[in-house]
Amino acid sequence: MSTPWPFLYPVLILIISFLCQASGIHLPSKNGAHYLGNFKSSSKTFSLVANSRAPKYQYETKYFQQKLDHFSFADLPSFPQRYLINTQHWVGPSRLGPIFLYCGNEGDIEWFASNTGFVWEIAPRFGAMVIFPEHRYYGESMPHGSKEEAYKNATTLSYLTAEQAIADYAVLITELKRNLSAHACPVVLFGGSYGGMLAAWMRLKYPHISIGALASSAPVLQFEDLVPSETFYNIVSNDFRRESISCFNTIKESWDVINKVGQINGGLAQLTKTFHICRELESVDDLSNWLDSAYSYLAMANYPYPTDFLMPLPGSPIKEVCRKVDSLPDGSSVLQRIFEGISVYYNYTGKVDCFNLDDDPHGMSGWDWQACTEMIMPMASNRTTSMFPEFRYDPKSDEEQCLKEFNVKPRPTWITTEFGGHAFKSALKAFGSNIIFSNGLLDPWSGGSVLEDVSETIVALITEKGAHHLDLRAATAEDPDWLLDQRSREIKLISEWLDEYYDEKKATFSM
Ligand SMILES: *[C@@H]1O[C@H](CO)[C@@H](O)[C@H](O)[C@H]1NC(C)=O
Ligand SMILES: *[C@@H]1O[C@H](CO)[C@@H](O)[C@H](O)[C@H]1NC(C)=O
Ligand SMILES: *[C@@H]1O[C@H](CO)[C@@H](O)[C@H](O)[C@H]1NC(C)=O
Ligand SMILES: *[C@@H]1O[C@H](CO)[C@@H](O)[C@H](O)[C@H]1NC(C)=O
Repeated sequence: MSTPWPFLYPVLILIISFLCQASGIHLPSKNGAHYLGNFKSSSKTFSLVANSRAPKYQYETKYFQQKLDHFSFADLPSFPQRYLINTQHWVGPSRLGPIFLYCGNEGDIEWFASNTGFVWEIAPRFGAMVIFPEHRYYGESMPHGSKEEAYKNATTLSYLTAEQAIADYAVLITELKRNLSAHACPVVLFGGSYGGMLAAWMRLKYPHISIGALASSAPVLQFEDLVPSETFYNIVSNDFRRESISCFNTIKESWDVINKVGQINGGLAQLTKTFHICRELESVDDLSNWLDSAYSYLAMANYPYPTDFLMPLPGSPIKEVCRKVDSLPDGSSVLQRIFEGISVYYNYTGKVDCFNLDDDPHGMSGWDWQACTEMIMPMASNRTTSMFPEFRYDPKSDEEQCLKEFNVKPRPTWITTEFGGHAFKSALKAFGSNIIFSNGLLDPWSGGSVLEDVSETIVALITEKGAHHLDLRAATAEDPDWLLDQRSREIKLISEWLDEYYDEKKATFSM
């Protein structure tokens, strides 16, 4: 099987991305860059999907005129950056009330706010203000006046970078503190996934602006050859293997079966029918990518209780998928088993008439641009260790795709130059402090994160059974003890950062 472009950039995910249409079907995007992005579909769409279980949090929505380019003195037009703010529990500047800042990632900020219950839930006990600034080029925070203009070409998109986003947060919080006469109030950063990367990087780049960062499921090492490029798909595969070897083997076998059927006369029509696809498949790759997305998202959202973060899913959804795959009677075909399994992901509600593999209707997605410029995360699959087809990381073909799609060339070594590569951990140890890297080992992104303590204050909090930034989600009655424990360790560390900060302040005052 050829190496499809989609495999190269899996899902940072976050989340949801392509939710689509009234049916709420989750569609992979054209180049299969399944991750993120694409919230043009308006917050309406995902508030339906994402918020039905999520509690609503109270905040004011504000806008801040942000500089388009923090790194040049060209006189460029500014743009309105949206931020959500709640000061209800804040004890105010005179008591040095802390400020909890969530580093917005690649999507509508309201959606991240409603899926980051942890920050809202702990703010009262700290007397903290909560602020969720939106990442530029996502949601309502559009430069150049509109999404259409912002996403027009490589020139208009060129201000969509992690560095600019972090600078936005630094400038915003500095001015907000000035406005509130809150200069001395300590800022604690939070973030999940790409937002977690931003939180960790911001702590490093602007150590004077925050006192610490909780970076949940942040694959800061998923660049160049810092971790093997097979890592992501190996973890996805192991998540299936640990549930059931036969399930793993069925999936592994299925790619060849799909290819074989696809090649015979009328084969694509047959696959279309077997998988209940709305429109006849144009290629086998379309189907494979659609399956690949589902397995990858299932691994990310392999939460111990039912969620509808990405899609409405049962608790431990991979167990459920494998139960379906394995429970068909002897003699059932591989494709029938795969169809039953995949339906747990794409049709858990039982309300989907047919599966729509069409491109995500929004066209350009911000994450696709980011993945074509600086967020170059090499991905590969090794047939010995993974259940996916074998493919190699192919920078040349990525480059061609990016030139074609955006007229831009990826810079695979930029992030490691800007934020740290092979020496990341030793630099962190020597120059950093107060960062929590939290991860659940079921999450395929965990392999690219920091999984062991770097120093006394840069610590890894790992849960074996956690998935993608589970710790940041709101508490539920079903939370297992290991999750409660992870969260209470986070709270304890944050308290220690604050105590230390207050002690230093006191010492200065009494001098
Ligand atoms: C991109 O679009 C802008 C705004 O329409 C235009 O001024 C600029 O020349 C375009 N740049 C390229 C490289 O096409
Ligand atoms: C600070 O105050 C100025 C003047 O009232 C206002 O224009 C600006 O938006 C405020 N900035 C923030 C971040 O609140
Ligand atoms: C979704 O599930 C329902 C209920 O099991 C079923 O009737 C329907 O055919 C399924 N949709 C697809 C596309 O398979
Ligand atoms: C695949 O993994 C096996 C076992 O770890 C290893 O021996 C082999 O070299 C790998 N193949 C490639 C192409 O990396």
